[in-house]
Amino acid sequence: MISAAENEILTRVGPETPMGRMMRRYWLPVCAGTQLPEPDSAPLHTRVLGESFVVFRDTSGRAGVLDELCMHRRASLVLGRVEEGGIRCLYHGWKFSVDGDILETPNHCDERFRASLKAPAYPAREAGGMVWAYFGPKELEPPFQAYEFFGGPEENRLVFRVNTPANYLQLWEGGTDSSHVGILHCNLANPEWKGKPDFVPGADDYTSVALAVGDNAPLIDIENTPYGYHYAAKREGPALADGTSAHSVRVTAVIFPTCRIIPLAHYQFFVFEVPQSDERTSTYFVAHGPKPFDRAKMLGVLGLDKPRLWNEADCDYRVGPENRYGQDRAKMGEVWSGLGGLIPEDASIGASMEPIVERHKEVLVAADAAVARLRSRLLESVRRHEAGGEPFGLSIADYSKVRSLADTHIAAGGRWQDFLPHNLGPGPKQPARV
Ligand code: FES
Ligand SMILES: [Fe+2]
Repeated sequence: MISAAENEILTRVGPETPMGRMMRRYWLPVCAGTQLPEPDSAPLHTRVLGESFVVFRDTSGRAGVLDELCMHRRASLVLGRVEEGGIRCLYHGWKFSVDGDILETPNHCDERFRASLKAPAYPAREAGGMVWAYFGPKELEPPFQAYEFFGGPEENRLVFRVNTPANYLQLWEGGTDSSHVGILHCNLANPEWKGKPDFVPGADDYTSVALAVGDNAPLIDIENTPYGYHYAAKREGPALADGTSAHSVRVTAVIFPTCRIIPLAHYQFFVFEVPQSDERTSTYFVAHGPKPFDRAKMLGVLGLDKPRLWNEADCDYRVGPENRYGQDRAKMGEVWSGLGGLIPEDASIGASMEPIVERHKEVLVAADAAVARLRSRLLESVRRHEAGGEPFGLSIADYSKVRSLADTHIAAGGRWQDFLPHNLGPGPKQPARV
């Protein structure tokens, strides 16, 4: 059970909070690369951990991240001109490079003045179709963490950003909660709204959220890892060919401070829940697989094909009590949730819980074990950091072999960990406990 005080620690992310301090120790996604489509394109406003930034791509194509407000007299650089190797404030024309060098100050022609100061710029990199930045203490910059989707052909990867009016944790918890899949995502996971033990994902199946077994009360088996944990949702499956009883096992990996890897039959989803503020979250969905994707088809499958609720221009998911969180009750005869698609279902449920869940009022059951583990591991990492230690996984640079596992039949009592030999990563193995 999470107390109200622990809930505050888990959900508040501003600069003066324990969670905010810990999250600032890691590299974080700040926008999709496609939001800065070309050199000198329009700068982008973004919020991360309760603070506002401008992100821009300079003439050479490099991405830069600066405080939103100009260091001179605080005009927004989001209004600025991006040209000739920097971003220029509209008000008095001060111009800054991606590194924070002050290139021009037209109303104060003193070169020594320019050389003596730096604009508040943050280390930035572009990888995996996203721009990443580091907001922590300069002397403590950690290794940049590489994921599997950084490699391979670009067309085998899709990145979508969705900004949802909800605290990051309730959205992340949805991603470590296997038991909701066969209910909330019924149309994809259980299209007949009934069990379907003979389900076999098709060869070209974008919709393979479908459970191999229609069991909505999976056993949850969790193992801690140096970067967080991974867990198996075990559903009662048909017996193996030799008559041995078996489980259908689906494994999700959770990588601090914001990531989970979700298994699908033919590709994986890497999902990052990056807090904009205490009450708003930028979720980055990265689909990555062995074959090129059709972006339009994927948008339809995910339910991001309704421009009144979401569009690629601002990525905001426009739901709230005023539009019934996007629900169309007239469609509930054919769409179980009335919300129309995987991402709207998760985002609308997350938003409907109110901006920050009051966790001390919940009634948890065994199927919520991986959600409870997310909270306890986050608290453990925050407390360790507040005591002067290193948060989980901070010094691991290579996550490229950490994976999830789509529904796989394993003999009851068999080790699912053996299918994921690289998931523990470096460091000592920690005992599993449920
Ligand atoms: S406020 Fe930006 S140049 Fe003056
Ligand atoms: Fe979900």
